[in-house]
Amino acid sequence: MVAERNLTRLAVLGATGSIGTSTLDVAARHPERFRVEAVAAGRDWAGLLEICRHHRPRRAALADAGAAAQLREHLVEAGLGGVEVLEGEGGVAELGADPEVDAVVTAVVGAAGLASSLAACQAGKRILLANKETLVVAGTLFMETARRSGATIVPVDSEHNAVFQGLPADKGVAGVERIVLTASGGPFRDRDPDTLAEVTPDEAVAHPNWSMGQKISVDSATMMNKGLEVIEACHLFGLGPEQVDVVIHRQSLVHALVGYTDGTFLAQLGSPDMRVPISYAMGYPERIASGVELVDLAAAGRLDFQAVDERRFPCLGLAYQALRSGDGACAVLNAANEVAVAAFLEGRLRFDRMAAVVEEALAAEAAPPPMDLESARSIDGRARQAAEVAIGRFRD
Ligand SMILES: NC(=O)c1ccc[n+]([C@@H]2O[C@H](COP(=O)([O-])OP(=O)(O)OC[C@H]3O[C@@H](n4cnc5c(N)ncnc54)[C@H](OP(=O)(O)O)[C@@H]3O)[C@@H](O)[C@H]2O)c1
Repeated sequence: MVAERNLTRLAVLGATGSIGTSTLDVAARHPERFRVEAVAAGRDWAGLLEICRHHRPRRAALADAGAAAQLREHLVEAGLGGVEVLEGEGGVAELGADPEVDAVVTAVVGAAGLASSLAACQAGKRILLANKETLVVAGTLFMETARRSGATIVPVDSEHNAVFQGLPADKGVAGVERIVLTASGGPFRDRDPDTLAEVTPDEAVAHPNWSMGQKISVDSATMMNKGLEVIEACHLFGLGPEQVDVVIHRQSLVHALVGYTDGTFLAQLGSPDMRVPISYAMGYPERIASGVELVDLAAAGRLDFQAVDERRFPCLGLAYQALRSGDGACAVLNAANEVAVAAFLEGRLRFDRMAAVVEEALAAEAAPPPMDLESARSIDGRARQAAEVAIGRFRD
């Protein structure tokens, strides 16, 4: 099939999630501009079925084989038997490299998104990158693959999208001294740190400003999310750790600032709604309607900025530590954090012990930088084991 002029053929990986849903919302506002060719998720076959009904993709994939079988059956019942259904991690990755797709939205959660992100990168796609874990686990590998294949990467993460918007037109960093990522501080920014041991999963996922998936919501509460974003920013923009700062900005209206050598800060300001950065990434270099209105500045009233309290948020320091140690340590940090977050959500680990689990895994595993998907997986597997050992010790 030949692409129609100005029509972008999209693959949305992680279509049933928070970013996936917002992406499909923006795509549906511009049917003349975007066609959803392929959609993928983990196991939510019913959610993907609904998406197929609305968007009529050519192909769909589910990582879980049993869920893929359900989807096939129900698609036939719905008169949509023409949709090809793939399964497993390989099936999801195949959609990322589909020759009839122009742009791939990588919105799978966690390190599970690495294989499909890399497949899209190797295939030289335009990548709208939401899965920050790709850059945390294998940042150098991913960026070098993009340079070789000619893949373009447009960040979707709101802070990185904001930096991207604030960079010079050629998107290089000439004249940039440092960048500043803002953090809301999450639901516990004002809570007595001595009470963090009692935090419940429901409290942790109740973000004050953003509506997001469970994992990233917990990461926001510990501020590991901002740590992952610092690593992501260094890879995306070719900056050193000393050039990336974090400040708490409780209103979540300014998403990042680019600081230039002449004393200028360029800040991006918008509502805390992911459709803003998603639509920018989808339309770039043009701007397209996102369904979100401009912020009412008088109603917003004020913009506050304050330093991060490292005692309250030890995960941020661990991320900087891993970044300075190298890509292998970042992969360990990510895997240990995923295990710690899952254990916390399952009630197996106290909120205030997630940082200690990550710290122990970093001390236990001195990993080399991942050279390919296999080595990334092997570091990930060992770090997960080290994290489980640490969790087991905390239970004793
Ligand atoms: N949400 C935000 O506002 C936000 C902002 C910036 C960056 N991000 C990043 O965007 C990514 C997605 O976040 P989210 O909040 O949208 O997560 P989410 O709501 O939890 O959605 C995750 C998506 O990934 C799919 N998935 C899970 N495991 C999979 C697997 N093994 N293979 C294929 N798909 C799989 C899920 O499918 P099922 O429904 O079948 O489980 C779902 O579609 C994360 O990397 C996050 O850090 C999110």
